Amino acid sequence: MDCAPRHAADSRDADLQRAAAVEAALAALDLPTKVALLGGADMWSVGPVGAGSATGFGRLVLSDGPAGVRGENWTPEDPSIALPSPTAIGATWDTEAARTVGLLLAQEARRKGAHAVLAPTVNLHRTPYAGRHFEAYSEDPQLTGVLGAALVAGLQQGGVAATPKHYVANDAETDRFSVDVRADGRTLRELYLEPFERIVRSTRPWLLMAAYNSVNGVTMSEHDVLNNGVLRGEWGFDGALVSDWTGARSTLGCVRGGLDLAMPGPDTVYGEHLVAAVREGRVAEKTVDVLARRVLLLAARVGLLDGAPPAVPGPALPAPLDGPATVRDLAARSFVLLRNEYAGNAVLPLGTGGSAESPDGAVRRIAVSGLHASAPRFGGGGSSQVFPEQVSTPLDALRAAVPAGTEVTYEPGPDPRSRLAPASDADGFRLTAVLHGLDDAELARAEQRDGSVRWMGSLPGGVSFADLGRVELVGEFTPRESGTHRLAVRGVGHFRLEAGNRVLYDAELQAESEDPAAAFLHPPQRTFMLDAEAEQAPLPVRLLHSVPAHGVGGLFGLVSFELGYGAPAVSEEELIERAARTAAEADCAVVFVGTTDETESEGVDRETLALPGSQDELVARVAHANPRTVVVVNAGAPVLMPWREDVAALLLCWFPGEAGGEALADVLLGAAEPGGRLPTTWPDAEDDVPVRQVVPDSDGQLPYAEGPYIGYRAWRHAAGPEPAYWFGHGLGYTRWEYESLNITALEAAADGDPYRPVARTTVRVRNIGPRAGREVVQLYLGPEGPDRRLASFAVVEAPAGGAVEAHLQVPLRVVQTWDDTHLTWHPCPGPQHFAVGRSAADIRLTAELELKLPA
Ligand code: BGC
Repeated sequence: MDCAPRHAADSRDADLQRAAAVEAALAALDLPTKVALLGGADMWSVGPVGAGSATGFGRLVLSDGPAGVRGENWTPEDPSIALPSPTAIGATWDTEAARTVGLLLAQEARRKGAHAVLAPTVNLHRTPYAGRHFEAYSEDPQLTGVLGAALVAGLQQGGVAATPKHYVANDAETDRFSVDVRADGRTLRELYLEPFERIVRSTRPWLLMAAYNSVNGVTMSEHDVLNNGVLRGEWGFDGALVSDWTGARSTLGCVRGGLDLAMPGPDTVYGEHLVAAVREGRVAEKTVDVLARRVLLLAARVGLLDGAPPAVPGPALPAPLDGPATVRDLAARSFVLLRNEYAGNAVLPLGTGGSAESPDGAVRRIAVSGLHASAPRFGGGGSSQVFPEQVSTPLDALRAAVPAGTEVTYEPGPDPRSRLAPASDADGFRLTAVLHGLDDAELARAEQRDGSVRWMGSLPGGVSFADLGRVELVGEFTPRESGTHRLAVRGVGHFRLEAGNRVLYDAELQAESEDPAAAFLHPPQRTFMLDAEAEQAPLPVRLLHSVPAHGVGGLFGLVSFELGYGAPAVSEEELIERAARTAAEADCAVVFVGTTDETESEGVDRETLALPGSQDELVARVAHANPRTVVVVNAGAPVLMPWREDVAALLLCWFPGEAGGEALADVLLGAAEPGGRLPTTWPDAEDDVPVRQVVPDSDGQLPYAEGPYIGYRAWRHAAGPEPAYWFGHGLGYTRWEYESLNITALEAAADGDPYRPVARTTVRVRNIGPRAGREVVQLYLGPEGPDRRLASFAVVEAPAGGAVEAHLQVPLRVVQTWDDTHLTWHPCPGPQHFAVGRSAADIRLTAELELKLPA
């Protein structure tokens, strides 16, 4: 893969000009100004400094993140294109798709005025219990590194800094600020450092984020060995290292650990603390220069340093990308068809297999059920969250796509969410937010789309955080139906909820965790019952919130709370029965199931892999009522599917982004093939999962005791029960025959670059199925067993009956092993075992060859 930026301006000459401009700027800045470059000015930006001078540094804006560019506002009022979650991109196994994601992120960043995007997340799927699993690509370091590098190349080709994160071993959420990951050198080098190393060596990222956690006793924002030694010294990283948000804890520690930028601001461990440390002789000014130089270089690369040519001169993108069309195509490529069989025939795509009930072969009635059909999870929760202009729901998209004469019925089934959704127009609420000052005077008003208030960095009407005392959500509620309605207050601080003429709540809600992000991502909730009749006069509703003096979770510049609503509940049994009844009357059933914001999100790990609520019961009953049942799983990470052998088809759609509904309609009806393959092994039962530990021990340590055996390698190592579906599995809509495998050993390059190819393989595959299709050819190296690992992969396409060759390069790195005693890489002793196939467990061709490896 060629990851080098294409623009000629990023040439040696331009490098020299940028270096000269950086030195000129540095020489012109006094100590406090240099130090000001090392910390955030606010939540999302650095600078400006010296504006208007010859060495001016513009305001540098950083934005999340991996599934879309949110920009500086955390609100629906500032919409963004919502991309499929990184797990979905992992499932494409497609470097071009990952590069396209990078280009689209760059386009969005430029539109929103951001210069750096805090992505990609290249931590590993060490265990499916990790709450932020959806935000990383894979359990495999090669797949992660190759896709991450392609994304970085795309972003930076668009002139925007990428920020691979979280360096390193931030593979779970529990106590993420303080956990001390204990891992030996081989485990770190071969697994967790590997994606970072590949990205740094092959794409030169301009920024990189240090993780919150410690590794072997040292927190990552202060890790001299891993930051200065490995990242910079060995791999040649020349970009800037930024802390994770609030992850910089000590002035001297961060300076020694090579942390260039402490975020967010304005209060950081640098600023006045660092100026004082220099003045008192505890830090040399030339050390500050080293850090400032790297931030200035970042500014130069993104075009914010006067006198320096940007790395990519505008217009950055060769041609604008059509965001919605691109994300629809990416989503379909990422869907993984795990099973597709009804009475010996494929049930998907719908309408082509015929049905006993419809003698002319066409599916005339489709019974859709499950909440995720009408309220899909298009993205995961946490800092990767963005607000799309529009989200296509699978239900609406399917209804729009079926031919005239085909009926799509819908039964939502039981709601698996324990958190009530924000009260909305559709529920009968009209709400306005009123901002009050410290003296209670009204300062500003903002119309609300729903009951969710989240202002970060800035407030409506230009109100300053220092002046804000209380926020009031006022309006009215016109009940749509009669019965017992539920209202919920969610947030941290003091709340008073009034509805009708009743005070439902008037008390303090405390954060349940010290994690600042958890305080606004998973705030406490209180629920209240309210009896009200449909058709009655609107009820006045008022939720008054006193903003905590120290900000939510200690984060200044953040107001975050919600008024939730739940309509009068119908019994779960009744809802399931309705779904089963309509399924029985239809030609086929499509059940949507998935995780919820509470069960799968940043900030918390998962306690169980089971689907929340009664979704398993819903699937079982619908499948019993109609044997032609298709289940669509809307989750970013593995879930248990105890009914998986009892349903006709099983399709994973991950968190598919804003066009997920349309992409699902394309795939279910056959306009597109579900092109994905599992980037992670899916278990059958919790007890089978080989690596489960996410909770640190009583000393705050989390030992990676499994060593290099995670994912499919761990399943082989444990030699216990088989997983439900292996890494790499995915059916698509056609079938493939593997015809031949040819390997050419290459001379090892003398430059020591571990990503240079040492062998080239050509695999010939033939599409022996009924339609054109896409195949992911996977090459594994090593003898059968836990040491066999992914070496390379390629996506090919062929028409029905057609043959195609996949060309796979084997990098030196995959035939090396880390020697922890001598602190160096050694070649794996030959001959090498080559195994090519459709998954880690579906090997079609094998060969052995001695490679010419450098000693
Ligand atoms: C997350 C980062 C994110 C940052 C800014 C942190 O809590 O770990 O991934 O980029 O917040 O939102």
